[in-house]
Amino acid sequence: MSVHEDIRRLTAPDIRARKGGEPIVCLTSYHAHTARILDAYCDVILVGDSLGMVMHGLETTVPVTLDMMILQGRAVMRGSKRALVIVDLPFGSYEASKEQAFASAARVLKETGCGAVKLEGGRRMAETIAFLVERGVPVMGHVGLTPQAINAIGSFRAQGREESDWAPIEADARAVADAGAFALVLEAIAEPLGRRITAEVQIPTIGIGASVACDGQILVLEDMLGLSPRVPKFVKRFGDLGPAIEQAVKTYAEQVRARSFPGPENIYPMRTKKTQG
Ligand code: KIV
Repeated sequence: MSVHEDIRRLTAPDIRARKGGEPIVCLTSYHAHTARILDAYCDVILVGDSLGMVMHGLETTVPVTLDMMILQGRAVMRGSKRALVIVDLPFGSYEASKEQAFASAARVLKETGCGAVKLEGGRRMAETIAFLVERGVPVMGHVGLTPQAINAIGSFRAQGREESDWAPIEADARAVADAGAFALVLEAIAEPLGRRITAEVQIPTIGIGASVACDGQILVLEDMLGLSPRVPKFVKRFGDLGPAIEQAVKTYAEQVRARSFPGPENIYPMRTKKTQG
């Protein structure tokens, strides 16, 4: 008899339908084991290109490749069953043309089995978003602070802290929504602007350093667990895993050096032969 576990994964339309409803819980994950833990509590697991910094120690997300995203996307899909898994399109994999974006998105969907892609940029990406959506690729947008543009913007500073700066960010958010994205990340923008965009656009907004009024929130898992050495102001540390990991590693090193690990419970004795009477 085969046992079929009837767990349906959330889809982009499910998330789209949550506009104005119960807050959408999102976190990043790049591994099967953390994805398994998140899956019970999160609506969305984002395989973010922040993996460049978190997993690889890079300074920015710019060097991250499509192959890196696909590898970790597959791991997260294996570890999760219920959450919508979204994979970031990395810098250089979608900006050149809408055809390039479709080819990259198609690889991500086919090779990982995830349910949607995310890309950065507002008005300049609207045509591409519409092109992808028309061809069956659910797209999450990302405006405000867009880390892939770090070389052009110069720093990871919050956006829209002067009211005179709001108009282009609002125009970006509207363009992404009008192009057919199913949700929109608002990163590091002034709180009243996050609130205003959330009220203005018809798709769920997912805040990271935006506003509690957003339709959902996202953080980088390692940041909120206290594992990242430097974190932006918008990160709240919900855990402090660094000292716990250090203590475990220290104890392991001590026990290896003292030859008290492995103990009898961690080794394989020889099988005892049954004597025939
Ligand atoms: O790459 C990432 O982790 C992200 C989130 C911070 C939204 O894009």
